[in-house]
Amino acid sequence: IDELIQGGVEGKRVFVRADLNVPLQGETITDDGRIRAVAPTISKLAEAGAKVIVASHLGRPKGAPDPQFSLAPVAKRLGELLGKNVSFATDTVGDSAKATVAALANGEVTLLENLRFNAGETAKDDAERGAFADQLARLADLYVGDGFGAVHRKHASVYDLPARLPHAAGDLIATEVGVLKKLTEDVRRPYVVVLGGAKVSDKLGVIDNLLKKADRILIGGGMSYTFLKAKGHEVGISLLQEDQIPVCLEYLAEAEKRGVEFLLPVDVLVSADFPDLKTKAPASPELVASDAIPADKEGLDIGPKTRELYAAKLADAGTVFWNGPMGVFEHPDYANGTKAVAQGLIDSEAFTVVGGGDSAAAVRLLGFDENAFGHISTGGGASLEYLEGKTLPGLAALED
Ligand code: 3PG
Repeated sequence: IDELIQGGVEGKRVFVRADLNVPLQGETITDDGRIRAVAPTISKLAEAGAKVIVASHLGRPKGAPDPQFSLAPVAKRLGELLGKNVSFATDTVGDSAKATVAALANGEVTLLENLRFNAGETAKDDAERGAFADQLARLADLYVGDGFGAVHRKHASVYDLPARLPHAAGDLIATEVGVLKKLTEDVRRPYVVVLGGAKVSDKLGVIDNLLKKADRILIGGGMSYTFLKAKGHEVGISLLQEDQIPVCLEYLAEAEKRGVEFLLPVDVLVSADFPDLKTKAPASPELVASDAIPADKEGLDIGPKTRELYAAKLADAGTVFWNGPMGVFEHPDYANGTKAVAQGLIDSEAFTVVGGGDSAAAVRLLGFDENAFGHISTGGGASLEYLEGKTLPGLAALED
């Protein structure tokens, strides 16, 4: 980005692809970490006199406008963080976007509505995506990719648009890639990886690669139950990806072969009901051994024995990568597992990386100091796919 700025951006329309996919409750942003992470890039461009067009996706709307996924609350918060007015276009490439961009003076910032309100953004078909990228390209002169959390998506604004405009990577992407690269090169050992969260299939892939790199893998959260089932335990109504059981068995065997410690929860908190995250009404969980989950109950957090075990496995770590909460941390009755892992990272002398939208939001929402961690990534799937060694479309597009 500094080279791009040196080349002169004054009066130029610069399209910044950010990842402003923040958690919302109604119109309230519950964690603004992703907005804060990209704000310096936007400020830098605005201070250099650019007309800054910020764009992002939010949630997974179905290719058409859907008010619950509007970026309007984000425009307001971005304005507060930048200390300047951020105008908001109520569409992505339509009349509102064209008018809002045309009205920008040098140093001003606008945010477009959710890119995924247009089916072309996520289309599998190259021509359909390309046609949307063509429309976006007409709005801008230059492109800055800084939405690290979305670089693993082959989407129009991430992959096709940079091919159509002179482009550069923003500072957030540069920092993220710098840190994650370290984890793929020589790490201080023991290298401990903690994996949790609900997006089970997204994470099973990364384990394959991590089995070659890590010394210990600690599993928690939603993905535990597929492994527990693979080991022959009943998991009641817990989150389960039956089709991944053979893969889990392969990983368990591979871990043993390679001498990688592969830990699953030994106890879990279960309930017949998913807790109410809005009212946070007491949930009355039951504590059971992980091989004794009742048929009508689901696992919602790791139990105290697992917390203690995982804390011990983190204590002497040299490097830790953590992705995914250990339970339904949004509810106080199921937050202790995630808290214990966060505290375990803080208490160790290790270089610690928290990867992921959910785990990053969790540490902030649970009141931990961000500076107590080595690095908190804004990318969940993106950081995992980077560690898998995959080519990420949004990075490849910026490399040439
Ligand atoms: C994320 O939250 O991981 C990114 O914003 C990407 O979102 P997606 O998984 O809906 O593409």
